[in-house]
Amino acid sequence: MGLPVVIFALALTTVAMALDNGLMRTPPMGWLAWERYRCDIDCDNDPKNCISETLFRDMADRLAEDGWRELGYTYVNIDDCWSSKKRDGKGRLQPDPKRFPGGIPELARYVHDRGLLLGIYGDLGTFTCMGYPGTTLDNIETDAQTFADWGIDMLKFDGCYSNATEQEKGYPLMSKALNATGRPIGYSCSWPAYQGGLPPKVNYTQLGEICNLWRNYGDIQDSWDSVLNIVDWFFNHQDILQTTAGPGRWNDPDMLVIGDFGLSLDQSRSQMALWAIMAAPLFMSNDLRTLNSEARTILQNKAVIAINQDKMGVQGRRLLKEKSEIEVFWRPLSNSDSALVFFSRRSDMPYRYTTSLGKLNYKAGSYKVYDVFSEKLMPGLSDTTDFTVSINPSGVVMWYISPLVPLSFRQNYRVSSLHGGLELPFPL
Ligand SMILES: *[C@@H]1O[C@H](CO)[C@@H](O)[C@H](O)[C@H]1NC(C)=O
Ligand SMILES: *[C@@H]1O[C@H](CO)[C@@H](O)[C@H](O)[C@H]1NC(C)=O
Ligand SMILES: *[C@@H]1O[C@H](CO)[C@@H](O)[C@H](O)[C@H]1NC(C)=O
Repeated sequence: MGLPVVIFALALTTVAMALDNGLMRTPPMGWLAWERYRCDIDCDNDPKNCISETLFRDMADRLAEDGWRELGYTYVNIDDCWSSKKRDGKGRLQPDPKRFPGGIPELARYVHDRGLLLGIYGDLGTFTCMGYPGTTLDNIETDAQTFADWGIDMLKFDGCYSNATEQEKGYPLMSKALNATGRPIGYSCSWPAYQGGLPPKVNYTQLGEICNLWRNYGDIQDSWDSVLNIVDWFFNHQDILQTTAGPGRWNDPDMLVIGDFGLSLDQSRSQMALWAIMAAPLFMSNDLRTLNSEARTILQNKAVIAINQDKMGVQGRRLLKEKSEIEVFWRPLSNSDSALVFFSRRSDMPYRYTTSLGKLNYKAGSYKVYDVFSEKLMPGLSDTTDFTVSINPSGVVMWYISPLVPLSFRQNYRVSSLHGGLELPFPL
């Protein structure tokens, strides 16, 4: 039973159904305000951190100047609390005039001038979650057109203050309305999170046809408990979720909180590794102005980004949950490559875990192994050879694995199309 073959067949069956706006063929990457900045509107007392055009300009500067953009982190995304409490005279949403004095089109220009994209937030319902004007069914076309007129590139469409019937109408309607503007706008739907995230209430076939990404589950918080809770939910439901993802259509376990206050260094690597295995959108919610170098190194690790951005777009799986509290995750990649994550849920000391690639369903042969976080290359590992990895408590060891056969004997992918066009830190 060759596990890789089974998964490849699944990948082929999902290819045709993505939303037809040409966007997000690999998981979107960038920055999103919510987890770190919430609804801080107190610009008088907290001018650096309040939701204002200054915050988004600052983050755009950092993304453009500190090497993020080149790695794929291109979206600068606004969340709730950006708008005025009242629509304008023509019934259109408008930004808070004190906090966004230049207006959204000017902010979009600022972001675009730096080679970046601007995302905004709306909410299907009478109010946004924080009580700002929502988008009721009769406002959908107006709001889609306003966002397009402003030069917006992505919409996160939340679902507070609407019921299931309205959501069933509103999420597809917004998809149509965005398309009708003629401007390609990435579409993030919070719909499944409001319906428990699982069939039969959630129709993932339909979601893939109308949204580029969707929030399946609750909001992430700045804590390891929250990260673990999300990881468990996504992998406990992997049989349902895995096949719904693919180019242009992604499950979204929510933002990266690496560089904030709640995660240790090992836990930060774990979040990055597991989000890459899940083919998750990578939206950082942190302060790029003051980010420490450990967090930066993890978030800018080229091998883990290459795994996340793999062109085949197949979401990975948990293969094993050991009694020792070690879990093994696996994701197939283009070109017969793959990624493995060895994750420890222990809380005592580094655990020495012994296995072999054969035991993890790898085909007979030799493999080149690159350790993603220690950045060491192991030249040849046979499927039958036992190896031992030492995994820190709440940490990971992550491997990028290539079969040791010449590229021409593998699959017919063009080398230039591999790995999201990123240059890998090791030779293929
Ligand atoms: C709108 O949908 C059509 C048909 O699916 C597609 O060809 C077109 O590219 C879409 N346009 C935008 C702007 O999303
Ligand atoms: C949902 O809200 C609408 C009002 O927008 C109402 O007419 C409808 O009865 C509600 N449906 C349910 C199932 O509560
Ligand atoms: C789910 O959505 C798809 C595509 O819109 C549709 O063909 C299918 O009938 C739906 N499934 C259910 C169970 O409603």
